[in-house]
Amino acid sequence: MSGASGSKTIDRPLPVIYNCLMDDLYIKAAELLNNSRRTIALTGAGVSAESGIPTFRNDDGLWKKYDPAIYASYEVFLRDPSKYWEMRGDFIRTYNSLAPNNAHKALAKMERLGKLDQIITQNIDGLHSKAGNREVIEIHGNLQESSCMTCNREFTPANLPEGIPPYCPCGGVIKPSTVLFGEPMPEEAMERALFESSHCNLMLVIGTSATVQPAASLPVIAMDHGARLIEINPEPALFHADLRIPEQAGRALPALLDNLP
Ligand code: OAD
Repeated sequence: MSGASGSKTIDRPLPVIYNCLMDDLYIKAAELLNNSRRTIALTGAGVSAESGIPTFRNDDGLWKKYDPAIYASYEVFLRDPSKYWEMRGDFIRTYNSLAPNNAHKALAKMERLGKLDQIITQNIDGLHSKAGNREVIEIHGNLQESSCMTCNREFTPANLPEGIPPYCPCGGVIKPSTVLFGEPMPEEAMERALFESSHCNLMLVIGTSATVQPAASLPVIAMDHGARLIEINPEPALFHADLRIPEQAGRALPALLDNLP
């Protein structure tokens, strides 16, 4: 076959086949969602990508600019908190101006329709709550919350003292609630996430590379307890998903809703 005829073949039937397959995937996914008694979603940076936040590990991701072993390390933070606060100063303005995208909105609608019981998110941007989801477990904390490591006083961006690093009026170092590498996970959030993962029938795994523990274990725990897994990610990362939808979350989630009976 010549190169010319090869390209002719690609021009014609591929989009049709692709659409058929995708339609089929959405029908199957909607069936699983509709028949599930308890559905939860595990989300990662990919869900917020269409709001304008680069994911961590892509070419313009945060970890390409800032080495997480320095800027997001708990051990380094305890020695020199200014590194983390320098990085945060760089991205906080972008984060503050962001709005929920179609993926967040679809998940909020899914909860309103009684089709989604819980979100477990690794994201720290608060966009799931902003979109209207009420049941959100933030296992990596929230960018807006910090507290003094000495007196536990809590701070929001509105009353956060100036300076890098910012110090509490008591003189203590202020630490964000966001989890740093090497730091113990927030206990209550993690307990709830483990409970939810082992008590669901269906887990939607959306926009995560599933490379960071313990979040990466949650789909495995769900599967070990008999749940089905649907992965939504243009570059699927889970080897054990029952169904993979290789699409951006902002397109896939509304399409999934459209296919519900
Ligand atoms: P990653 O940056 O590791 O992975 C993002 C995933 O989203 C990739 O698999 C992309 O293919 C996918 N993706 C990109 N655009 C998408 C879109 N529009 N729709 C759906 N998926 C899309 O981010 P996480 O897996 O969230 O932790 O990273 C986990 C943790 O690593 C973060 O919470 C953070 C980071 O280090 C801490 O800082 C403790």
